[in-house]
Amino acid sequence: MEAIVSLSKRRGFVFPSSDIYGGFNGFFDYGPLGVELKKNIRDCWWNDMVRRREDIVGLESSIIMHPKVWQASGHVAGFTDPLVDCKASKQRYRADQLFFSAVEVVNPEDNSKQIIGYVSALESENTAGDLQDKAESMKRKKAVRGNLVTITPRDMTEAKPEEIALIPSPATGEPGSLTEPRAFNMMFETHVGALRDESSVSYLRPETAQGMFVDFKNVVDTGRVKIPFGIAQIGKSFRNEITPRNFIFRSREFEQMEMEYFIHEDADWAKSHREWINWCKSWLISIGLPESHLTEYNHPQEKLAFYSKGTTDIMFKYPFGVQELWGIAARGNYDLTQHANASGVPHFIFDEATKKRYIPHVIEPAVGVDRIFLAVLCGGYAEEDVTDEKGNVEKRTVLRFNPRIAPVKVAVLPLLKNKPELVQRALDIYTRLKRRYAVFYDEGGAIGRRYRRQDEIGTPWCITIDFDTIEKDGTFTLRERDSMQQRRITEAELFALLEEAVY
Ligand code: GAP
Repeated sequence: MEAIVSLSKRRGFVFPSSDIYGGFNGFFDYGPLGVELKKNIRDCWWNDMVRRREDIVGLESSIIMHPKVWQASGHVAGFTDPLVDCKASKQRYRADQLFFSAVEVVNPEDNSKQIIGYVSALESENTAGDLQDKAESMKRKKAVRGNLVTITPRDMTEAKPEEIALIPSPATGEPGSLTEPRAFNMMFETHVGALRDESSVSYLRPETAQGMFVDFKNVVDTGRVKIPFGIAQIGKSFRNEITPRNFIFRSREFEQMEMEYFIHEDADWAKSHREWINWCKSWLISIGLPESHLTEYNHPQEKLAFYSKGTTDIMFKYPFGVQELWGIAARGNYDLTQHANASGVPHFIFDEATKKRYIPHVIEPAVGVDRIFLAVLCGGYAEEDVTDEKGNVEKRTVLRFNPRIAPVKVAVLPLLKNKPELVQRALDIYTRLKRRYAVFYDEGGAIGRRYRRQDEIGTPWCITIDFDTIEKDGTFTLRERDSMQQRRITEAELFALLEEAVY
């Protein structure tokens, strides 16, 4: 991760927000290459999800909606994470990410068990190992004889009231300062209008999904859709995460791409759910994520909300662990029913076949743009040893972005910058390519160095304009990023290659 975060800043993908003021935890800025990559991810999703389908339409709802929306959706009452405070250090932890264990020792003489204290650790790739190490160290320090029982990690939401005071704070290492977990609402509040009192409280949306439910009737009334159909939206969401972490993976301001797919109340929801899981997985592969890094996680039935029929997450193997990338939820007709009841506006669909009215059910694939961004960075990043023509081995850093999402598709390089005829020809091609694609012109430095600079930002192809281009057949050298192979190609062939790969 360190190498990826450092490359992101150095090459202008992602900067900490408010960097000159020391950054602002949980907020990020996307630099010149980052905005291109992000826009390409969004565009691919929008084209494949909306424009290239007959059954899905788009929407852009407002970020601040009527506060009643969030009451009806259940977010005011229930959009919470369990929070634990450390009174000594003023640090705050998500209770389900703070693990602890009793340290138990067995006396070999009479097999009696004794608890000699508690250990705690923040969730990591190796939480159990961290706790075990701390338990062994405690036993050594306290010079207790006997055999240590293998620890069983529990998180703070599982702590008994009498245990809370005995669990050490991760900040101080001392027990006695942690509070009992309490529900912390993650919605950012603001005030709308000139009055700042209870009546003007509103929220920055914590998900884009509610916009689709609230505008469901408006979309149906425009007459362009018939069940089954979907409404899709891309936009910013905001959550006051207790512990934003892992770079842009969990932040406080992020972007979502969500789609609500409305189906008949009697439709086979499990089939539709499965189809959408498969669609999402294929789409991720189509933008270049390695299939080997993608797995599925089915939420256990007992942990689902009462209205939910099933939720499956597509997980990605990030460097910090296998984590949720895309959630696909079967939400029944809960949301439309809630808004119909709260607003008093009926949300029925009339079934011509049965002559009955019903409220449609919904399948919801919801993904974060920033999480896909991080996945393509992590999945594409490689450091390799390469040998040049003289036999020297050097390191190259390469981002193997799929051409669909690569911020720059082609770099145009005149072989020599002091030969006006080469420069002119290179600029001609550059100008023609630029009309359709994000391309980059670079005439500075040795050609090998220019290739490396493009490898590092994930440009799939470089073309070099040389003397053969102007003196012979007009072809130029095409150099491929991944294989580093070079071949001669005409301008028409280059456009055909791009047409095929960038869609
Ligand atoms: N409407 C359903 C919904 O919002 P969610 O699982 O809370 O479901 C959907 O969020 C997706 O949004 C997640 O799978 C993840 O990709 C992204 N996401 C959620 N919280 C995020 C955060 N704090 N930072 C970045 N991405 C986030």
